[in-house]
Amino acid sequence: MATIFSGIKPTGVVTLGNYLGAMKQFVDLQDDNNAYYCIVDLHSITVQLDRVELMNNTRKLAALYLASGLDPEKATIFVQSEVKAHAQLGWMLTCIAGMGELGRMTQYKDKSQGNENVGAGLFVYPTLMASDILLYNTELVPVGDDQKQHIELTRDLAERFNKRYYETFTMPEPLIQKEGARIMSLTNPVKKMSKSDTNAKGYISMLDEPNVIRKKIKSAVTDSSGVISFDRENKPGISNLLEIYSLSTGTSIDDLVKQYENSNYGTFKQDVAEAVVALLEPIQARYHELIDSPELDEILDAGRAKAETVANKNLAKIEKAMGL
Ligand code: ADP
Ligand code: NA
Repeated sequence: MATIFSGIKPTGVVTLGNYLGAMKQFVDLQDDNNAYYCIVDLHSITVQLDRVELMNNTRKLAALYLASGLDPEKATIFVQSEVKAHAQLGWMLTCIAGMGELGRMTQYKDKSQGNENVGAGLFVYPTLMASDILLYNTELVPVGDDQKQHIELTRDLAERFNKRYYETFTMPEPLIQKEGARIMSLTNPVKKMSKSDTNAKGYISMLDEPNVIRKKIKSAVTDSSGVISFDRENKPGISNLLEIYSLSTGTSIDDLVKQYENSNYGTFKQDVAEAVVALLEPIQARYHELIDSPELDEILDAGRAKAETVANKNLAKIEKAMGL
């Protein structure tokens, strides 16, 4: 039994990449662990968002968490901004962090692209993420591999704090699964599938209609060899579809490759699409039941209360260590 923390930003679309890379793992881990699953709305305001849209996105993500199988009896499900200690510890950790190490974060470099007017929040983002994790004495952080560098920074900050002040923080480890750690864009399979993709054909939203899913997978970029085999380097498109198919059905990639030995891309894509539709349909049905239900508010209120108790107790210790 380990203490687990992870979160997803409520920035609109929740992609199949978020589901296969993160949420699915959240569900698997909730039974035997003390898990905190957060809707990290303070992270989403690093870019400008409409207030009503943000409120709706937060609710949507909460409903998707539950529809995917997260159970408030087994895990603590809550909204980050409702537990004030996250922002407070975030500031303290910002004061521990260096400009140099923050500037080396590849996610920051990708998103800022040398633009001087980029928001300062995007720059200090990893210190808030470190706060989320460290506040609960987290041992394991289930994430996609794009977050590995941020977890390393979290460890560096924890270690620095522990040396400088008092042995306060537990050292967290990333928990990155072998398959699904990086689901790629359907239109450009050398880049990760992301909701910030300007081309909506590049990602599948967890709430896409079956026919939209079919169309997107049908037009997914592949190659001209016609052979269905797993080779990330030379066949990134087909390999990505194999991975999506495998994770959606539980059939291993090796077995899928054997099964499609004498098949063609058209048939293969059709079957991948049906597997994704079958995976998402029950989640979508449950989502539509939940989205307007008062049950959702009750679950988030109870989650906040549980998270707050632990967070406030730890924050008091951290403040004491720093002399605040
Ligand atoms: P996004 O990267 O879509 O903006 P977040 O930063 O909120 O989403 O990430 C939430 C979780 O989803 C993280 O654990 C992240 O690693 C995971 N994730 C995001 N995109 C992918 C992807 N394409 N493949 C696998 N995991 C992903
Ligand atoms: Na649990």
